[in-house]
Amino acid sequence: MLTLAVLISGTGSNLRALLDAASHPDFPARVVVVGADREAEGLAHAEEFGIPTFTVPWGSFDSREAWGEELARELDVWTPDLVVLSGLMRLLPASVVARYAPRIINTHPAYLPEFPGAHGVRDALAAGVTQTGASVIVVDDGVDTGPILAQERVPVHPGDTEHSLHERIKPVERRLLIDVVRRIATGELALTG
Ligand code: GAR
Repeated sequence: MLTLAVLISGTGSNLRALLDAASHPDFPARVVVVGADREAEGLAHAEEFGIPTFTVPWGSFDSREAWGEELARELDVWTPDLVVLSGLMRLLPASVVARYAPRIINTHPAYLPEFPGAHGVRDALAAGVTQTGASVIVVDDGVDTGPILAQERVPVHPGDTEHSLHERIKPVERRLLIDVVRRIATGELALTG
């Protein structure tokens, strides 16, 4: 059974989908802990499933490195096989990436390498493209530059807002994420840094 630590910053709707999937007895992975960089709304999903949570508040540390050290300390308690960034809106310091690589994956609401960074949906809209997408990648030291594990196109509709487009992308992200986790757990997909 593959053990997962999931890190979030926001509402955790993708986390929720992963928790639902992982609660089925035949799913080959289990969420053992959920962490956040703030008092994220999504931590409530973990609590509902009886999964332990922790918060390492970004604002309480002087540097990314110090924040990352504390984050790694919290993660290490659970010895997760895989760390899943599911809407964590902070870059991990290189020391944390090195500690877990290549066992850290990230979901992103764009068809990477298009529109990396914190505003993937907004940037796609601003660029006027007719399609964007969703990606699941291995985390490396860059901003959304790691090896792509899965991705799929999502259409942009006329009149889309950032919210409406993001809501169309998220179900695709969830499906890709759950499938990637399943394939890593079964050994069908090997992680390389
Ligand atoms: C997701 O779309 C995720 O890909 C994105 O934040 C959203 C979290 O939604 N992450 C990034 O943009 C990271 N660069 P959720 O909290 O409802 O799961």
